Amino acid sequence: MAHSRNIHLAADLSFLHTDYLWRLPGSWIGYPYYGTSEFYEDVARLAERGIMDMLFFGDTGGTSEDFGGTHDAVVRLGAKWPRHDMTPMIPLMARVTKGVGFAMTMSTTYHHPFHCARVFNALDHVTRGRIAWNAVTSAYKAEAANYGFDVMMDHDQRYERAQEFLKVACALWDSIEPDAFVGDRDQGIYCDPAKVHRIDHRGDYFNVRGPLPALPSPQQRPVIIQAGLSGPGMKLAADYADLQFSTRRTLPSMQQHRRALDEKLAEAGRSPRDIGVLWSIRVQVATSASEARAKEAAYLAAVPPEAGLVEMSQQFGVDFSQAREDMTLADFADAVASQKGNLGTFEELLKTVDPKQTVREFGSRFMVDRILVASGTPAEIVDRLEELHEGSGANGGFILGRGFSAMDNIREFVELVVPELQKRGLSKTKYAGSTLRENLNA
Ligand SMILES: Cc1cc2nc3c(=O)[nH]c(=O)nc-3n(C[C@H](O)[C@H](O)[C@H](O)COP(=O)(O)O)c2cc1C
Repeated sequence: MAHSRNIHLAADLSFLHTDYLWRLPGSWIGYPYYGTSEFYEDVARLAERGIMDMLFFGDTGGTSEDFGGTHDAVVRLGAKWPRHDMTPMIPLMARVTKGVGFAMTMSTTYHHPFHCARVFNALDHVTRGRIAWNAVTSAYKAEAANYGFDVMMDHDQRYERAQEFLKVACALWDSIEPDAFVGDRDQGIYCDPAKVHRIDHRGDYFNVRGPLPALPSPQQRPVIIQAGLSGPGMKLAADYADLQFSTRRTLPSMQQHRRALDEKLAEAGRSPRDIGVLWSIRVQVATSASEARAKEAAYLAAVPPEAGLVEMSQQFGVDFSQAREDMTLADFADAVASQKGNLGTFEELLKTVDPKQTVREFGSRFMVDRILVASGTPAEIVDRLEELHEGSGANGGFILGRGFSAMDNIREFVELVVPELQKRGLSKTKYAGSTLRENLNA
């Protein structure tokens, strides 16, 4: 999916005005973020000015009670809450743009492949070939509880179901051949029945006859993203994905990830260029390194001291409010594993965080250090992006994680960092084609 060595660019729009950002100067507290599309249309136009490949909405459908046993902290602080369904924003953003693509998340654990195939076929039509699907297995108890599960399905079983889900969804997208539509008024033929096929799938989780009752969409299948970091997650990506998101936190860890993915790709009969990795990174632009540090300090001062621990509880399904002064991340490894949740992400922390650091110390910086960071002047940021990109095989690019100010963060990136990337020949200066797949390969 990343056939060139260009740095591909995406931005994560999942938490633009939650996660304490609503407290900061510049946030539009009270603005109807979910009732009007202007904000998102502006973000889409901005991203398009920076020839960014994709805007992404993550999704989980629960209200976490992991921190302190109630939802008080997440609701009071706006920590990854609320979580609206952002699908309606996609066609609205697509209408005001021509090149930037859009990624939506849908769970393989709680939805049905027929519904998924149908929705993404429709989104591919309406975006004129610019849609991607982030296929997630959903690692959160609070979400499981909303979909009727008292006990969350086991991690590896979720991936087993996901394998079958992806197989069925892809078969449905392929059940109508690209040239099935005839539209011949004289002969009275709408579509060629010989080019529309039943799939007759009967499996452990799903029975689906097919075909998909839809016209083939511009990309036929959406661009498929899978962000699993564990063994079964990497296998699912290697079998089906075009792109991976990854939260590796250091260059050696990125290199190790890329090697592991390439091995899994070889086992699946695919090649390294079949999957580009977009590494999650927080970019903080400033006029100097000290100004970047000052922005970070202002952000940390605006969030409550327990913010990081609330987020960690939510992410790993364990109550970090119980962390005593001397406890380290390793002390929570068994508890996290027993929750069957975000295993891959916690293992990454165990591998990359100083083992002597206490959970409380780490928690106080979790909001700013949980993923890769590039901060400083545009030139310093591009130096860092180039180092990480080249060092990890120049096969993909970056997804911008939450910055300190929703709109300004993306604007500063587009206005200050992208020109430097383009000047050095690291990112493209125009869209290569009309579909997301074409642009991700250019
Ligand atoms: C950038 C990024 C975005 C993600 N978005 C979601 C999401 O929207 N919903 C979700 O349930 N999981 C999301 N995940 C979690 C992954 O799907 C995956 O569960 C996680 O990386 C742990 O890997 P594992 O499932 O193999 O243990 C995301 C991960 C990354 C790196």
